[in-house]
Amino acid sequence: MNATKTGVGTRPSRYGLLGYPLGHSLSPQIHQRLMALAGLAGTYELLAIPPEEIAGRMSGFLEAFDGLNVTIPHKQVVKASLDQVDPLAEMIGAVNTITCPSEGPVSGYNTDLEGFLSDAPELSGRRVLILGAGGVCRTLAFAAGLKGAIQIRFLVRHPEKALPLAKAIAAAYPACAVDVTSEASSCYTEDQTTPWQKRWVVLNGTPAGMWPHTGNVPIPDELFDHVQAVYDTIYNPFATRLVLRAQSRGIPARGGLGMLVNQALLAQQIWNPAAIFPADTKEQVLKGLAGEIYRQSPVTLVLMGFMGSGKSRVGRELAFRTSWPLVDLDHWIEEKAGRTIPEIFNTGGEAAFRKLEEQALDEVLSNHRCQILATGGGALMSAAAQAILYSHPALVIYLSASLETIEARVGDGTGRPMIAGQDRARLALLYDKRRPIYSRLADLVVNADLPLEEKLDTIMTTLGLGGVNE
Ligand code: S3P
Repeated sequence: MNATKTGVGTRPSRYGLLGYPLGHSLSPQIHQRLMALAGLAGTYELLAIPPEEIAGRMSGFLEAFDGLNVTIPHKQVVKASLDQVDPLAEMIGAVNTITCPSEGPVSGYNTDLEGFLSDAPELSGRRVLILGAGGVCRTLAFAAGLKGAIQIRFLVRHPEKALPLAKAIAAAYPACAVDVTSEASSCYTEDQTTPWQKRWVVLNGTPAGMWPHTGNVPIPDELFDHVQAVYDTIYNPFATRLVLRAQSRGIPARGGLGMLVNQALLAQQIWNPAAIFPADTKEQVLKGLAGEIYRQSPVTLVLMGFMGSGKSRVGRELAFRTSWPLVDLDHWIEEKAGRTIPEIFNTGGEAAFRKLEEQALDEVLSNHRCQILATGGGALMSAAAQAILYSHPALVIYLSASLETIEARVGDGTGRPMIAGQDRARLALLYDKRRPIYSRLADLVVNADLPLEEKLDTIMTTLGLGGVNE
């Protein structure tokens, strides 16, 4: 702790984050937890300073604070106000941590790079595909170069904007092949599926998929066949669509929360070199943080799958474990219409039911809170329903059941007008027709034939739901 800054003896240290805009920053919570674990007394403030004000106000902040973090868009400009810049931060060209001692030089550091590396997939000898070229991509690219990636490719919408960064990386790491493309298909390296060693390690530095636009994903589906690992710097939601779709294909993937915690811990260690942090500091800070993200940025977990795939059952259990409300879309429709689903089908046919279903979907998803939504098997089949789904913060969990399991569960189809009184071939036909649509919409795919506990554990762990009750 810096006790001498004001010359009045021991006082809590004062830290802050400079950025603009700051929105839903988790940094205050993370730093409070870190300081508590090391027995440090201090405060951490959010300082949302517009770009045109930052240069003029820096000396005031350096005077008033013991340490500062810096985020977008100030990571470059603050350098001008510092006495010295750590060589790594100089090389990357971005400062995210500043020490402001009462005596001695004001110094700038970069803890993002090391924070990323301690959470990152293997980069050494790998072909690395960086999505985007702004902000955090600089850190990702230098990290990949430093670790000995053999190739770094930037996949961007506007190649000309990525060229300066690509040039800087090529100059810093001459042994690494660096290029820029706007065509995902240029990354499909073999005729069929790329052999594992040659597959890309994908690092996402774009905002695609960030809450509330959780339905966005920065790469086309075809690219997953050429990927060996994914790191998404987005941590809100805890697991993005990119991360979930990769994991559902068996590709190791994780979101950026670990990087965020690591860079904060490293900053605390710079500010408080004598402090002792427990060995499990990172795990302790991570615990409950996903819950904080869900509180700040609520999402609907949409359970999707064929009739009899267990959506209502899994929904009930998930609601119990998370304490989030469960909405059963079929029940919601029946309640609103004052009629049972077979009655609705009898009077207005399937078309009338689908209309009510779309309306209900929009009503439930518009309720922006953390909730679980068990949908009917046909609820997300239409383009209109999909447009509704993608206009709200939601993640889709596909309970993928085999036809045998479904046949056993739906019995003679009582209460299910899509199949009741019809022969089994109709069920199989519908199943085959819907499966590709489910696969396309799925974020997380769960094998619905597995025992209930296993399904729930997969969902809870993958989505970081363990601590949402705390
Ligand atoms: C339907 C499935 C039903 C219900 C309606 C139509 C379908 O829900 O929404 O009978 O088209 O698959 P479950 O999937 O819960 O059986």
